[in-house]
Amino acid sequence: MTPRAKAKTQNNKADSAEEEARNRQETLKVLQRFGRKQGNLIPILQKVQSRLGYLPREAMVEIANHLGIPEIDVYGVVTFYNQFRLNPPGKHLIRVCLGTACHMKGGYITLDAWKRRLGINQGETTPDREFDLDTVACVGCCTMAPVTVVDNQPEGKVEPTKVDGILLAFELERGAKGQEAAQ
Ligand code: FES
Repeated sequence: MTPRAKAKTQNNKADSAEEEARNRQETLKVLQRFGRKQGNLIPILQKVQSRLGYLPREAMVEIANHLGIPEIDVYGVVTFYNQFRLNPPGKHLIRVCLGTACHMKGGYITLDAWKRRLGINQGETTPDREFDLDTVACVGCCTMAPVTVVDNQPEGKVEPTKVDGILLAFELERGAKGQEAAQ
């Protein structure tokens, strides 16, 4: 391994150790507000996820210790309900509308285009943590069908070519930020 690659690996390890410590701290803060009743498991999970954006392993361990239950029980609940996520969310949330009007106007074709371009399925996050892909029911802009909601902003007439345009805009924005940071 080159010295540069080695330094990068060490930095990544330090980052993830810091993140773990931060996740633990945040989880402990939430736990202080809840009693040790097992019935508190779901409200605790919801609160921790709202703070961290997801439920990392270290948070589940702390929760299991607090409630005096096995970790596997916490994990079982987290994987049972689809409101909970085990991985950090992406920076940008892409939601393809599959309500009736959007479905009639090719919402599934748009969804396929997003899947192909991002290389993920719905409910997943890109490996670089830039994008989450999901679906949504009618968002009330049916005249603009097919609609994709990009970071809470509904975009109308999103056909496959427009998917490319939206992604290009994100790339340009990222490039501009990278250049600003380098100056
Ligand atoms: S069905 Fe998509 S916005 Fe109404």
